[in-house]
Amino acid sequence: MLYRPLGRTGLSVSEIGFGAASWWGKRQFNEIRAARLVDAAIAGGVTFFDTGSSYSGGNAEPRLGRVLKGRDASGLVVATKAGTFAEGRAIRRDFSPAAVIASAKRSLRNLGLEVLPLLQLHGPAMGELTDELLGALQGLKAKGLVRALGVTSFDPAIIDRVIDLPDFDVVMVDYNVLRPEREPLIVRAAAAGKGVLAGMPLAMGHTGLQVARIRAPRDLWYAARGLMRHRPEVAEGARFAFLHRLGAMTGSQAALAYVLANPHVACAVVGTTRMAHLTEDLAASGMSLPDELMARIRAT
Ligand SMILES: NC(=O)c1ccc[n+]([C@@H]2O[C@H](COP(=O)([O-])OP(=O)(O)OC[C@H]3O[C@@H](n4cnc5c(N)ncnc54)[C@H](OP(=O)(O)O)[C@@H]3O)[C@@H](O)[C@H]2O)c1
Repeated sequence: MLYRPLGRTGLSVSEIGFGAASWWGKRQFNEIRAARLVDAAIAGGVTFFDTGSSYSGGNAEPRLGRVLKGRDASGLVVATKAGTFAEGRAIRRDFSPAAVIASAKRSLRNLGLEVLPLLQLHGPAMGELTDELLGALQGLKAKGLVRALGVTSFDPAIIDRVIDLPDFDVVMVDYNVLRPEREPLIVRAAAAGKGVLAGMPLAMGHTGLQVARIRAPRDLWYAARGLMRHRPEVAEGARFAFLHRLGAMTGSQAALAYVLANPHVACAVVGTTRMAHLTEDLAASGMSLPDELMARIRAT
């Protein structure tokens, strides 16, 4: 596993990170299997873990805390998010300073940490990035409860705004083979000293026709997520079937190698519930793509 600096935070992270989210965090997914994946990720050199207060119906963050309990987490960068929370099956938003502070304190308890290495605002709207909220976030930093601050958003306008806000150290963007247009934004973020995280680096599996590979209940959930909320990605992903016929590497490895070919990306945060997939994804660290393939991906 190779490691990269996370902007100017002083933190170094594995270039492949583990997303403690989605099906991994759901109660329906056996916690022993979820823990085995985290163990294997750590054994494979992963030091970056990403979760969120609202992920997986609110179960992902406390699950990650339980899984890490008793382990030495001092070398890990555990990132979480605030501003959204789970209420039953719904995800609610509250970016008020009081709610974000309460969320950060809950995350510390859930994760069993004394300091959150990275607290990210989870998809704030422009109007939610208030001076009061920025002040509250700095307060968390000043109290030593949070080490670095970030924003995750798949809205380029929000990332563009955050790049100009010195309060934030890190941005997470949706960067994958379907989104080469994020590159100018990533260059600008890195030039401003922000650490850049790539969320959804495998385009949610849609280059591999995820929606058509139903082997277990989780695949039905993945398919429903794709067809209900990410139809454009499902359609665009189908054009990348050639990635899965390379021979020298798998389609997922090629997709990760594309993301990590960008020197400004610190970490590609992968979501998986299958050990074979995790092994394959971790092996993508250090892989590179021939120029013609890079050009084909950009042109597709
Ligand atoms: N707004 C936000 O803050 C936000 C939003 C989205 C994502 N994220 C972050 O990004 C992380 C990743 O996002 P994501 O899980 O949505 O997307 P992703 O990592 O792009 O794709 C995950 C999908 O790819 C499949 N997969 C993984 N490895 C594979 C392999 N080697 N071969 C075939 N399929 C493979 C997984 O299925 P299996 O379970 O079968 O492996 C899953 O369906 C999240 O966990 C989260 O940390 C953040």
